Amino acid sequence: MGGVEGGLVLLKDQKGRAFLVRLRPGGVFHHHRGTVPHEAILEAGPGGRVQTHLGEPLSVHRPTLEEYVLHMKRSATPTYPKDASAILTLLDLAPGMRVLEAGTGSGGLTLFLARAVGPSGLVDTYEKRPHHLKQAVENVRAFWQADNIRFHEGSLEEASLEKEAYDGVALDLMEPWAVLGVAAEALKPDRFLVAYLPNITQALELIAKAEGLPLVLERVLEVGWREWEVRLPVAHPRFHQVAHTAFLVAFRKWKVS
Ligand SMILES: C[S@@+](CC[C@H](N)C(=O)[O-])C[C@H]1O[C@@H](n2cnc3c(N)ncnc32)[C@H](O)[C@@H]1O
Repeated sequence: MGGVEGGLVLLKDQKGRAFLVRLRPGGVFHHHRGTVPHEAILEAGPGGRVQTHLGEPLSVHRPTLEEYVLHMKRSATPTYPKDASAILTLLDLAPGMRVLEAGTGSGGLTLFLARAVGPSGLVDTYEKRPHHLKQAVENVRAFWQADNIRFHEGSLEEASLEKEAYDGVALDLMEPWAVLGVAAEALKPDRFLVAYLPNITQALELIAKAEGLPLVLERVLEVGWREWEVRLPVAHPRFHQVAHTAFLVAFRKWKVS
């Protein structure tokens, strides 16, 4: 089924609820207010509209990376997109760069990294749980067709990595201090390692464990992202917000002489 890459579309109903759908020949989308054949969705295409047989209008979209990560299947909780985009900035990523990541989880951050370094770059991602890796590979391949990701099954601390080969390291795992030594060795001098940590106690433990390694603490931050409800003439911050996701801890590598 052509038209939309990978057959992936995002449908939005009148209440703004979003549904990620993989189109297939003969398929039918089920909404609680009726059904729509996949063929009709394909024909409407991104930016178009369809109606269920009960008259519910649905808009058809090519999912953005943010929408995709928030709606894809998850085996582990993906890095929140607002934080993933901040990680790209803190890592100072550009096309052609090489990045090291652990753990792969559901592949959310992997997608952000792969898109930032582009087809000429490379992401080496490590995941110790096979069923997480399987889900991540499926998630990534359904959205991103470029061949710039190498998936590795296993713990990062047990990987044999080339020294000073990576332009950036992104860590989203429970105990990043366990991998800090190997990750620091694999990082190029003057480049960045960023860890995503839900608890401040984890951030403090990581900073303490970095002592003695060629890493200097650059920044600790949270990404604020306050959504507003706008229904003219009324506008106010949404009553339900994502209050806290994680702390980002960024280190820069010293040159080891
Ligand atoms: C929170 S999830 C990562 C989510 C991912 N950033 C995403 O956006 O989908 C953390 C993952 O790290 C994996 N993990 C934990 N310790 C690890 C290690 N030492 N090496 C490799 N993977 C590890 C876990 O199995 C889990 O899947």
